Amino acid sequence: MDIVNKRRSIRKYTDKAVGQDEIKEMLAAAMQAPSAGNQQPWQFLVIQDRSSLKDLSRVSPYASMVADAAGAVVFLIDHSNLKFPEMSQQDLAASVENFLLKAVDLGLGAVWLGIAPLKEREEFIRDLFKLPETVQPFCIVPFGHPHDEGQNRYIDRYNPEKVFFEEYN
Ligand SMILES: Cc1cc2nc3c(=O)[nH]c(=O)nc-3n(C[C@H](O)[C@H](O)[C@H](O)COP(=O)(O)O)c2cc1C
Repeated sequence: MDIVNKRRSIRKYTDKAVGQDEIKEMLAAAMQAPSAGNQQPWQFLVIQDRSSLKDLSRVSPYASMVADAAGAVVFLIDHSNLKFPEMSQQDLAASVENFLLKAVDLGLGAVWLGIAPLKEREEFIRDLFKLPETVQPFCIVPFGHPHDEGQNRYIDRYNPEKVFFEEYN
């Protein structure tokens, strides 16, 4: 479980490329996530073209690191033929966390950038990549080799005040 404790949001990367095998491993981890009724509503748009990464970084004031990342994955919800459509955001969240943890496992760094349910951000991405109406952008995860060694590091966040046993009090 070390990778769970070590995972941090990494927003600065070196220029070193990330291999296609590593990208595939992160995507495979993302696809291992649990989903409601095993509906697997996710799709993944992998962006490595520098000009597209720069365009994508303008989606919000908090996404500038995308421009300098080795790559970024736009996590998408495919709304066609879902058994439990109201569960799809939970499914995607599990998938994103798996991706982030595999990045740590591979010695890489990544960060979750929220898109849905903010319509302005969703439409920006829909326009940029000409996505059909049935496909909803959920979040972006830029990734790369961490700029500083040890950026993925343990911070103790256990807070007993958040935990209740048997009764909420
Ligand atoms: C739903 C969601 C949206 C987020 N959006 C952004 C974002 O737009 N920009 C950013 O730099 N970090 C974003 N983050 C990362 C959080 O800021 C980060 O997880 C939090 O500060 C805790 O730090 P840690 O990930 O290093 O533990 C987001 C995280 C989540 C889960």
